[in-house]
Amino acid sequence: MMKLGSTFGVAAAFAASSDASVDQGWNLRVTNSEGPVPRTCYAAASIPSNVRGSYFIAGPAQFNGLPDAQWKYQGVFDGLGMVNRFEISPADTPGEVCFTSAWMNTGLYKSFVKDHKAPPRGVIFEDTVPSRSSCDIGTDMCDYMAPNDNNWVNMIPVGDEALWLSDVPLMIGMDPKTLNVTGPKAWADDKKSMTGTTQPSWVQSTHMASGGSAHPLLLPATPSTYVDFLMAQPMMPWDKSYYIDVFTFEASASGPQSRKRIASLQTDSGFYMHSFGVTDKHLVLPFNMDMGGVGPLHAAIMLGKFSKNWKGLQVLDIVSGAVQVYDDMEPFEHAHIANTFENASGIVFDVGAFDKTPFVKSPAMDINLFQDKAARDAETNRGALRRYHLNNVTKKTTVEYVIQTGRGYDFYKINPAFNGLSYCIYYAVEWWHDDKAYASMAVMKHDICHNKMTYWSDTNVYVNEPFFIAGNSGEEDDGTLVFTALDGNTGKSIFIALEARSFKELERIQLPSHIPFTAHGSFIPLTAAEETVIV
Ligand SMILES: [Fe+2]
Repeated sequence: MMKLGSTFGVAAAFAASSDASVDQGWNLRVTNSEGPVPRTCYAAASIPSNVRGSYFIAGPAQFNGLPDAQWKYQGVFDGLGMVNRFEISPADTPGEVCFTSAWMNTGLYKSFVKDHKAPPRGVIFEDTVPSRSSCDIGTDMCDYMAPNDNNWVNMIPVGDEALWLSDVPLMIGMDPKTLNVTGPKAWADDKKSMTGTTQPSWVQSTHMASGGSAHPLLLPATPSTYVDFLMAQPMMPWDKSYYIDVFTFEASASGPQSRKRIASLQTDSGFYMHSFGVTDKHLVLPFNMDMGGVGPLHAAIMLGKFSKNWKGLQVLDIVSGAVQVYDDMEPFEHAHIANTFENASGIVFDVGAFDKTPFVKSPAMDINLFQDKAARDAETNRGALRRYHLNNVTKKTTVEYVIQTGRGYDFYKINPAFNGLSYCIYYAVEWWHDDKAYASMAVMKHDICHNKMTYWSDTNVYVNEPFFIAGNSGEEDDGTLVFTALDGNTGKSIFIALEARSFKELERIQLPSHIPFTAHGSFIPLTAAEETVIV
């Protein structure tokens, strides 16, 4: 274990001793993993003893068929998923952090293992190089009938399973103990669609569930009820009716359960929403983008198919099903939400907003552009948090730019206890931390109430999404912030734990290999029964 003192705010001090101008090690973020790491434990006595549980984060870790085959993915997000687990103070080794990584043995991964000479079939962001040939003349049905289960984007614990999510209808089960992927989550209301895919029985029989949110949210004021939605598109070319079906399910339930549909919004095009906001009374759905031209009879390639379609922020009353549209603001695009809550005059919706869609061929999504320093440093479509106040009396919107540094932000996280409630503090990943380089990255803590920013950064260290694990006091920033990063100086990844209040570095553990790009992390606390296990 390598342990350093606090590095918060020290980026400038390190700059003189290491040449950051070349972004050393950056390309490892889109370079194949060296392979899974068996459970390896490290001393970590400085993490508070009440922090016990498993932190999971996954991402693409195989981007091509090399060295045996010459095909390559072009899309960063097309890579085959690998899961990383950090057991913090587990029952058998209290006071340590145990790291394990494993390939997500999905249907996609099994296809790759079976024949890695050609890219596995399925819907992908960008065509491969060389271009993969059409699998069924004129229909490409094999790509739509493929497993399409490379769900490394986000995870939620439901019952005794870890469910892995992407912007797709299927949730993929994993045993959090063995990291074995068990296949699509089975629901009591599963039904085969006309094309043979599985979807809830309440999806219109003439429609196919074609997408979903990658970010189901806990319904505030409930202990374990998640709210989510599915998009349903018509299967008949003359049918122009699309639906967004909002439903709930219980995170406390193991085994098959029925999803409860609570609303069905009909639209005239196929809207795409990566995430949405929720309070105890309302959903806030940003209708800003279509995803069209993907489906049977079309090539199963997504980039280039997203288009602007502004229909405002649509607020759904969870009880009555009524929808109030707020569309008096400048149109914007989004990927992620920080938080949503209600006050005396309406709803506060804090969203990571972009002027243009981020779902395009860009340095964030395309492997070649990702590795092109000039292209990535010059990228101008930078996300940042905006606050939309939706006044429920005047039906007007006010907009506040929460942060205006000119840098880029994403991967917003808060203290989960403040989900749906008035709050002050969010954590995020910042790019262009030095105001010059995309690869100059930091983990930021922003206290909105006091307009105070605090950073953790280090030269040539590329951070991933932070996760807040609460302490015992109930105060908003009493807790531990954990995250992984790629240390480009060594070519190895690291696991970091910070005291969230001060941003003092508690632990910095060097891992045996590098972890490429990752998405969203989740934490499963150790149960009381697990804590008392005598080993
Ligand atoms: Fe996401």
